[in-house]
Amino acid sequence: MTERTLVLIKPDGVERRYVGDILGRVERKGLDLVALKLLTVDREVAEKHYAEHAERPFFPDLIEFITSGPLVAAVLEGPRSIEAFRQIAGGTDPVAKATPGTIRADLALDGQKNLVHGSDSPESAAREIALWFPELG
Ligand code: CMP
Repeated sequence: MTERTLVLIKPDGVERRYVGDILGRVERKGLDLVALKLLTVDREVAEKHYAEHAERPFFPDLIEFITSGPLVAAVLEGPRSIEAFRQIAGGTDPVAKATPGTIRADLALDGQKNLVHGSDSPESAAREIALWFPELG
């Protein structure tokens, strides 16, 4: 079943010039780009996006990082796109969890500066797409 997912190429991905590489992997996987933009996000949207992590010790640092510079936000579409993007992203920790061949395993070292975010469920995808792309609603 075709579904949508929200993907971020985080500020480390833009700064390290991996936007083309990451979007290339998305395209080669066969996922469709529905919407795409470059922006620097404000604290309000960042805190809403990561609301489920509000009580975690790394939350303040995460908000600082995600608002620190331009990032790419995208909506992808395709069969099982949520799981498909998470597969090519690799696990959250680029060393301990991500499998070689994934974006995070190939290109990142840090548990926070892990290059990409992908929605983790249909409910998160709907919430995140509405937050980042209200114009699609
Ligand atoms: P993401 O998939 O965007 O979801 C939550 C983010 O919090 C995660 O990627 C990392 O950027 C960050 N994160 C998760 N766990 C940790 C951690 N233990 N320390 C620092 N940052 C983390």
